[in-house]
Amino acid sequence: MSIAMVELDGLRKEFPLRGRDNRKNGATFVAVDNVTCQIDQGEVFGLLGPNGAGKTTTIKMISTLLRPTSGTVKAGGIDVVLHPTQALRNIGTVLAGERSVYWKLTGRENLEYFAALYGIPKRLARPRINALLERFSLDKRADENVEKYSTGMRQRISLAKALLAEPQILILDEPTAGLDPQSARNLREIILEIRAEGRTVLLTTHYMEEADQLCDRIAIIDHGRIIALDTPGNLKRMLEDKRLFSIETQQWCEEWQHGLIELGARNVQASFDQSSRHHSITLHLNGGITSGDALTYLVNRGAGIVNFVGKDVSLEDVFIHLTGKSLRE
Ligand SMILES: Nc1ncnc2c1ncn2[C@@H]1O[C@H](COP(=O)(O)OP(=O)(O)OP(=O)(O)O)[C@@H](O)[C@H]1O
Ligand SMILES: [Mg+2]
Repeated sequence: MSIAMVELDGLRKEFPLRGRDNRKNGATFVAVDNVTCQIDQGEVFGLLGPNGAGKTTTIKMISTLLRPTSGTVKAGGIDVVLHPTQALRNIGTVLAGERSVYWKLTGRENLEYFAALYGIPKRLARPRINALLERFSLDKRADENVEKYSTGMRQRISLAKALLAEPQILILDEPTAGLDPQSARNLREIILEIRAEGRTVLLTTHYMEEADQLCDRIAIIDHGRIIALDTPGNLKRMLEDKRLFSIETQQWCEEWQHGLIELGARNVQASFDQSSRHHSITLHLNGGITSGDALTYLVNRGAGIVNFVGKDVSLEDVFIHLTGKSLRE
């Protein structure tokens, strides 16, 4: 049985549009549009979407940093708008690109300061701070000012701060953005350790590989709406019959693109490789066309098939399929 740790019900956020006329008319922009979902205890849940999709706005509403226009958020069963103080006891948040710790204080001083702020008794705080500093490999630099830390260390001290009160729910906005590959990998391991402790992790990302590796379930969000929600495996299975098919040929003719599309292929793209003098054609298969149909079509027109391969479906393919656009556009 899964236990709901975060429940979003019809969550919506409108921002007033700028400009005199807009203000007069009360015109608004809908950043988060009727988001309903449940995040279970002990899972890593990802909000995946392009820039401006509404990911940060959603987690700011959960963390009580923004007030929803309508809809409800419950964290650990507690309504965050009605009982923010109580709800926040369950939540630790690290926002992207915002200073959540003081740069003029040392790592240790920051943790001591926030421990006092959260009302953690000194005798509990001291060992907990030492353990966090050690766990995040900050113990040797604990007495240096945070301004001297690297980006990765700053991210880790922010994470330590978010974990100080031992929250059940950890919310991370773009946790690996701006980190080098090694630091990003370390951070992903830390996130999995936090899950192993039974905590619930909600993160946002626009890195598909990260979402794929890290998340138990993913909500794909676009223009403020959830357009798909499932495990990475199930999301990709959605496209199993529509998987990407690559064909290498000696000949290529513009008209064949239309012919293949008429047969039911999608996103047909052709490029010419100067060195091999071969054409590389990629297309998405769906119910209307099989890889055999596509090959037969090309063979019948004398394309001269050199090679063909079906690629694994990625979350990028799923995103393109759902929205008609690439996540990185
Ligand atoms: N305070 C605000 N006032 C007006 N519009 C806002 C405000 N905050 C966010 N928005 C708009 O709401 C939309 C969603 O923004 P949000 O920051 O939630 O997106 P995001 O998915 O986190 O994107 P990114 O990947 O760039 O971080 C954007 O179009 C943004 O410009
Ligand atoms: Mg954001």
